[in-house]
Amino acid sequence: MTTECFAPAKINLTLHVTGQRADGYHLLDSLVVFADVGDAITFTPAPEMSLKVDGPFSKGVPCDGRNLLWKAAELAGVTGHLTLQKNLPHGAGIGGGSSDAGALLRALDCDNAGLALGADVPVCSYGRAARMQGIGDVVHPVANMPRLFAVLVNSGAYVPTPQVFQALAQKDNLGQEDMPQHGMDFTQWLHRQRNDLQAAAITIAPDIGTVLAALAACDGQNLVRMSGSGATCFALFDTASAAQAAAHKLATAYPDWWVKPCVLS
Ligand code: C5P
Repeated sequence: MTTECFAPAKINLTLHVTGQRADGYHLLDSLVVFADVGDAITFTPAPEMSLKVDGPFSKGVPCDGRNLLWKAAELAGVTGHLTLQKNLPHGAGIGGGSSDAGALLRALDCDNAGLALGADVPVCSYGRAARMQGIGDVVHPVANMPRLFAVLVNSGAYVPTPQVFQALAQKDNLGQEDMPQHGMDFTQWLHRQRNDLQAAAITIAPDIGTVLAALAACDGQNLVRMSGSGATCFALFDTASAAQAAAHKLATAYPDWWVKPCVLS
């Protein structure tokens, strides 16, 4: 029987870097949510492994054991035929292969969260709003996450994650403030939090600054920030129609950019 799964874009609404371990990995404190846009995966059990990749971002995606989706199947102890429709830009701070791997682990009810596959895989295998700490291995579910209307934008800039961490000026920043209690303004709280990787990523790919400025100029945006180690950035809006209008304007002004209105939760 074929299992179908959806691998949503992962968005770091906040990403605080609070320290560095002796092995070089950084300690994080991040509020992670998931979008209603993402990659589509199927898995059909068979004696041999195979992987077919298509979709708008299939170029450059390995179709063999190097692919995190293939590695996730191995981790889950299954073999079979995988298909991956790559709708999301990869190496882009929105989950990429980690979300694909996490979605498959979740669909297969695997009890291994997949940390060995990457620091983002445990939160992606949880697949719902969460506060991520440690190096990504500590995942606290977040209840009552408000639905947020967003636009995601990627200019095509590529920033290798290790390089962004290396470019960090300060690695022992304050963690996230506790999330607001019911009734407090979530957006105001979000404004007081940060993505500590944003400034470092802009030094490597100045394009990210251009994307942030274009999002900041959109009518009705109430927060603009980079996700993960970049280069994808997002803006939040009060309504779906404001997000759609902003996405339409950006896609017209910057036809080479990937621009997606979506709902985050
Ligand atoms: O684990 P993942 O392959 O996603 O991480 C890519 C790179 O990002 C790591 O090799 C490391 O350089 C950096 N990283 C880090 N601290 C983390 C997560 C990632 O330094 N918590």
